[in-house]
Amino acid sequence: MTIRRNILILNGPNLNLLGTRQPEIYGSRTLEDLKEMCVSKGKACSINIKFEQSNSESELVTFIQEAINTSDGIIINAAAYSHTSVAILDALNSFNGYVIEVHISDITKREEFRKFSYVSLRADYVIMGRGLEGYIDAIEKMQQED
Ligand code: DQA
Repeated sequence: MTIRRNILILNGPNLNLLGTRQPEIYGSRTLEDLKEMCVSKGKACSINIKFEQSNSESELVTFIQEAINTSDGIIINAAAYSHTSVAILDALNSFNGYVIEVHISDITKREEFRKFSYVSLRADYVIMGRGLEGYIDAIEKMQQED
């Protein structure tokens, strides 16, 4: 079992609107609620969580590049960029640690254009359709997988 102490949790565009954005799909809890959930789970597991959100593809790429030397794992919900961004895939391919892709909703049961994810081409593990709990599952998974 690999011990991972530094995990980057990265959230893409429009996830800053959690709580008010299509609550029937994404629920009523906010990004701040999600951050608190992840940080407290991290504390319970003795893991440092760096939690970020950006609406900008270039900022997301920069966060991934910074993680190359600072994080053992990345949990990423690239949101809409999952379906479009070769740049995010390329950045993830430069990262040697464990990568877990998370989606709050089940993207296989929604519109056709959401079914393909570039991030999935690199992800070591994918969690979807579990709501915000999917992030907690991902933190637990980070500790179990080699
Ligand atoms: C999402 C699913 C994406 O298709 C969508 O663009 C998002 C959120 C999810 O968490 O379910 O913004 O990644």
